[in-house]
Amino acid sequence: MAHLTTTGTGRPRLSSQALDLLFRQARTPGGFTDEPVGPEDLRALYELIRHGPTSFNQQPLRVLEIRSTGARQRLLRHLTDRNRDKARGAPLTLLLAVDLNYHEHLPVVFPHAPHLYEWLANAPEVRRERGRFDALLQTGYLIVAARALGLAALPMLGFDEAGLNAEFFPAGDREALLVLNLGRPAPVRRERLPRLTYDQVVTTL
Ligand SMILES: Cc1cc2nc3c(=O)[nH]c(=O)nc-3n(C[C@H](O)[C@H](O)[C@H](O)COP(=O)(O)O)c2cc1C
Repeated sequence: MAHLTTTGTGRPRLSSQALDLLFRQARTPGGFTDEPVGPEDLRALYELIRHGPTSFNQQPLRVLEIRSTGARQRLLRHLTDRNRDKARGAPLTLLLAVDLNYHEHLPVVFPHAPHLYEWLANAPEVRRERGRFDALLQTGYLIVAARALGLAALPMLGFDEAGLNAEFFPAGDREALLVLNLGRPAPVRRERLPRLTYDQVVTTL
């Protein structure tokens, strides 16, 4: 099956089937099959999303791969009861976080603007706000990339943020943003909830 097609102007674009996989048919699963998600799957995911754009190319997202039973228990106890049950059945759970010291990489990843490093080094609150923004953007790339690789993602915001941060980032240099469960989806029984229409969202000036 060809997944690239061209528009009338010759501009390449994804096929309709590929767009179904990424968006129209993709669902947030309530549960997963037992099929494992291995370290190589996570690596493949990261090798895709590392190319996603961030401001100043700063790439503040950090990923904790919660693999061992011990790490899993440490994570699960900070989730809400409903989320704990769902996450327990996930083949792989990630804790997505922002590195509050992401600016340390700027001399390499954005070398042509050394003043940025100085600015962010001396403005921790601005740095935190901008870091959270970009890291959240990167979590969006991760969800779509998972779908592109045949996985489904169940994101979770229902957790005790202070508890997770104390558990995994006691030095205070990172902050938990999202728990992301990955796997092959069990059949979804819920109807898709309504989405806003183009006219509700787009204003033309
Ligand atoms: C940032 C974010 C946080 C979410 N938090 C939770 C959560 O804590 N627990 C849960 O069961 N689902 C959670 N969800 C799942 C959403 O409710 C779901 O993606 C949305 O209703 C769309 O469902 P659909 O993809 O099946 O259409 C979250 C989704 C996102 C993107």
